[in-house]
Amino acid sequence: MRSETLWKMSGLTGTYEAWAFGDAPDLLAELVCRGIKTATASAYPLYEAEGEPVPQVGEYSVILDSQEDAVCIIRTTKVTIVPFLEVSPEHAYKEGEDDRSLESWRAVHRDFFMEELKEAEGLEFTEDMPVVCEEFEVVYQPSLEEEVQAFFAGDASGHDWFHTERVVRLAKRLASAEGADPEICRLAALLHDVDDYKLTGKAFGSTENAERLMARYGIPEQQRAEVLAIIQKVSFKGADTEVPESLEGKVVQDADRLDAIGAIGIGRTFAFGGTRGQLMYDPKIKPEPGKSAEAYRKNSNTTINHFYEKLLLLKDMMNTETGRRLAEGRHRVMEDFLAEFYAEWNGEDLQ
Ligand code: ADP
Ligand code: NI
Repeated sequence: MRSETLWKMSGLTGTYEAWAFGDAPDLLAELVCRGIKTATASAYPLYEAEGEPVPQVGEYSVILDSQEDAVCIIRTTKVTIVPFLEVSPEHAYKEGEDDRSLESWRAVHRDFFMEELKEAEGLEFTEDMPVVCEEFEVVYQPSLEEEVQAFFAGDASGHDWFHTERVVRLAKRLASAEGADPEICRLAALLHDVDDYKLTGKAFGSTENAERLMARYGIPEQQRAEVLAIIQKVSFKGADTEVPESLEGKVVQDADRLDAIGAIGIGRTFAFGGTRGQLMYDPKIKPEPGKSAEAYRKNSNTTINHFYEKLLLLKDMMNTETGRRLAEGRHRVMEDFLAEFYAEWNGEDLQ
């Protein structure tokens, strides 16, 4: 999310600076969020050269990742300036990187400062160079739900936050009925659309955002892998549609599909069509069910045709018993809706 959004959410007042760590910004931001990294160091001569004040205790910073995404807010708690060779093993430990030893701190920072100073005119790294050692605490970090909510803010194509919220709710219900792991289902449902190519503009099948978020929130490796396997397969792709292997994946796919049908499904489909400038209906344009994934994605058909190309097919594609049961009622709602739609279209009454 944007720095301004994060700052507002935090309820903090006053001023802040937003910045990313110079080296490995994503990894370091992740370590800060997980409470492993509580200190950083910077080259004092650069502050002098640029006429910038050194950090002060009590100052707030919004930490950004490599995508300029605001990750958390920290408050500076201690600032000391010491020569490079006098930086303590305690400080190196608090930096939280690698094996947290002074030895590795020196190796990494020697290289980093050398590069950084080389780029600044007339400066050179020496081992007695003063280093600004700064300690901090995380004062605000949104929850994973809030992150996902902010990601979907402003979407009006039917992929808004409430879609995700409903899928999480349905996934929980299906998980408990089917005996699937509730936490995997919750996470996969929560993250199932954060890499949707329609929203991110990134390549189809990317899992970049989901991976970044799970790393930042310290989700264990095993759970991460299970969630990724699910969200890679969950989406509808015409004739190329896949089914996730795990029961949890089957549950989440059913939950996502249940939200694509019924009254909500009808609403979402017309909302989507509206954002694409798509005609509601044109009797001359025939539906083309069974398209390949490629053709399904390019689709700029009418909204009514989407019922025949996807929505009415979903009832028979449900993976779980509970999904099938819930799909039936929702399917009927769509059939009734279409019958009424055609009757009104033709100026007739429903028989
Ligand atoms: P999935 O959620 O399986 O990835 P999509 O993202 O393709 O499926 O579609 C999600 C929802 O967006 C659909 O259920 C529908 O409401 C809407 N939608 C997608 N494509 C179209 C379309 N061409 N016309 C109308 N609505 C669409
Ligand atoms: Ni979805």
